[in-house]
Amino acid sequence: LIEKTLRPQMMAQYIGQDKVKNELKVYIQAAKARSEALDHVLLYGPPGLGKTTLAMVIANELDVRIHSTSGPAIERPGDLMVLLNELEAGDVLFIDEIHRLPRIVEEVLYSAMEDYYVDIIIGQGPTAHPVHFTLPPFTLVGATTKAGSLSAPLRDRFGIVSRMEYYSLEDLRQIVHRSADVLSTKIDESGAVEIALRSRGTPRVANRLLRRVRDFAQVYRDGLITKEIADKALAILSVDNRGLDDLDRQILTTMIQFYNGGPVGLSTIAANIGEEMETIEDMYEPYLLQLGFLQRTPRGRVATPMAYDHLGIKYDTE
Ligand code: ADE
Repeated sequence: LIEKTLRPQMMAQYIGQDKVKNELKVYIQAAKARSEALDHVLLYGPPGLGKTTLAMVIANELDVRIHSTSGPAIERPGDLMVLLNELEAGDVLFIDEIHRLPRIVEEVLYSAMEDYYVDIIIGQGPTAHPVHFTLPPFTLVGATTKAGSLSAPLRDRFGIVSRMEYYSLEDLRQIVHRSADVLSTKIDESGAVEIALRSRGTPRVANRLLRRVRDFAQVYRDGLITKEIADKALAILSVDNRGLDDLDRQILTTMIQFYNGGPVGLSTIAANIGEEMETIEDMYEPYLLQLGFLQRTPRGRVATPMAYDHLGIKYDTE
């Protein structure tokens, strides 16, 4: 319930992502003026930047219903049919992690997206027969952390492709204030800035840290969140002054101490720290790249001098 209210409902409440927002506002207004479904939208970028929230905002702004699912949840064309069957004219169908749709399902989506129909085979063996379904005009909103792993035919069917960026400090500061307000928590400027600084450009992280710091403020202080209490709470959570957690630091120290800073392959790093490659690649690496602590080269990942500096390790090239 809290999560629901923390999510902005309309564009006017949605902080940051100005480029994406300003474009979408035009397309939404134009589609509404023509009484048409909005063109299909692909939102891509690192996790936690508000892709799901934005899909909901799009539906709210269009004043239509949203039907939500995710790539891995749709195993067969029949699962997709159930969802398509519920659509009314103009509705939004939101598919999170759309890069994980099985190929056979993806192929059913092509005609659904392009011409609002699907042809599927009903039944098995001698009674199997093709059935043609027409669909109401609808808007597919797809979200992915890996635009590169979408097949070209699927990617090409999105008329609107928007890249979500890491949030600026100023945007995060505003989000922390807004969320504190929603949570009826008092926070001073120094506290909001400190949480924003350590949120790795990501509202989901900012809101999680805010909740934790709020607990500490309540137990150890009078409930007011200040820089002092934020520092104390985040030290206990092992979130450092750039927002890195234990696993981030483990990735970098492994690279530096065992592989002289790299280049080292992702699978090697993963094996060393006992994490899945996918987790590192999708959840950890993007922010380390953004910070300039990590570089990708054809021969593997490299820890930069800035990473050494941050970890307090002397940078030695030989
Ligand atoms: N909460 C989470 N993300 C947000 C955003 N982009 N704007 C406002 N509140 C948020």
